[in-house]
Amino acid sequence: MDPASVAPSQMKASELAGDFEKIFGSQPRIFRAPGRVNLIGEHTDYNDGYVMPAAIGFFTQVAIAPRSDRKLVVRSEEFDGDFEFDLDHLPTSRVGAWCDYVLGVTSLLQQDGHPLRGANVLVRGDVPIGAGLSSSAAVEVASALAFLDLNGDRLALAEVAKLCQRAENTFVGARVGIMDQFVSCMGKAGHAFFLDCRSLAFKLVPLPPDIRLVVCNTMVKHALASGSYNTRRAECEEGARILARWDPKIRALRDVTGELLERHENDLPVNVYKRCSHIVRENQRVLDAVASLTEGNLTRVGELMRDSHRSLRDLYEVSCRELDVMVEAAEGLPGYCGGRMTGGGFGGCTVNLVHSANADHFAERIARRYQDAIGIQPNVYICSAEDGAQALN
Ligand code: GLA
Repeated sequence: MDPASVAPSQMKASELAGDFEKIFGSQPRIFRAPGRVNLIGEHTDYNDGYVMPAAIGFFTQVAIAPRSDRKLVVRSEEFDGDFEFDLDHLPTSRVGAWCDYVLGVTSLLQQDGHPLRGANVLVRGDVPIGAGLSSSAAVEVASALAFLDLNGDRLALAEVAKLCQRAENTFVGARVGIMDQFVSCMGKAGHAFFLDCRSLAFKLVPLPPDIRLVVCNTMVKHALASGSYNTRRAECEEGARILARWDPKIRALRDVTGELLERHENDLPVNVYKRCSHIVRENQRVLDAVASLTEGNLTRVGELMRDSHRSLRDLYEVSCRELDVMVEAAEGLPGYCGGRMTGGGFGGCTVNLVHSANADHFAERIARRYQDAIGIQPNVYICSAEDGAQALN
């Protein structure tokens, strides 16, 4: 058994440049953006709440060079299909292929009044796909930086993140929040990224140097994932709407206090109450986790992560057996501080805070425990927090 594959990424920009030259006959500029793992604050971003993710060492690289015509040619060696679009007649919604994330960004840049010239684009990535580590945000962010640069244009990173989120909302059709794109743009090596998803104010919270973020991939993704994401979002919006009857200042669940929620439990449909209950307490857990991490109290951060998982399982109901088994499998292993499911749920990964001296052993043991219980060999990635998006040449 080979349980642990270790981040960071081994992808070399020079290899991508060489491949680009073979295909397109010119030298590209290369940009990369990372995937992320969320330490705590799940499903809070689209409720105007708090999150604390970190960028990790899996990346999408986008190589780009100009063309003399008005075509946009998009390729990848990993995914099927060579795509060619006319920049003057770009689709305004998804075409149903992987290139949608590139195309969405291009289309929105153009709609926002950024002039675009013809381009050849080659995409390569090693962010595990469908694992809840934000491979799509990584493609969007790296593409946005590439197109802006090619056109001699500039946009603040926070604006790049917002544009990429809009591309996913309006072009691809997924109603995601701002967390993934934001941390992919602005993450910082060695730090967790505490973000207020309403004001977009953020604070970098140092992670102890001897802590690893061990990400355990259950290797399952249940079909429920995208439909249920939108249902949960709608339930939260319903909760905020109903509760605003008693406090008109409530614009989102971010504005609801635990006390107000308890007072009106019986005014809410049961499911809506459960969702609201998760969000209101999860926001508080993020604030507590920031304070505890700042004090170096990893035991407390670990407890908050465990509480978050139980809440996602029982109140928000976005966990699944594989995730629960993976979270349970970490208990009692040496060096383990705490862990939980991470990302949207219904499969994907757990994130675990583990002392670095124990990380390899932890990876081996958790993989064996999970395989014994579920019959699937997981992938385990030993990660650190990495820098956000950047140019590579
Ligand atoms: C997905 C979305 C994020 C966030 C998480 C859940 O990753 O892209 O915006 O809502 O789910 O926390």
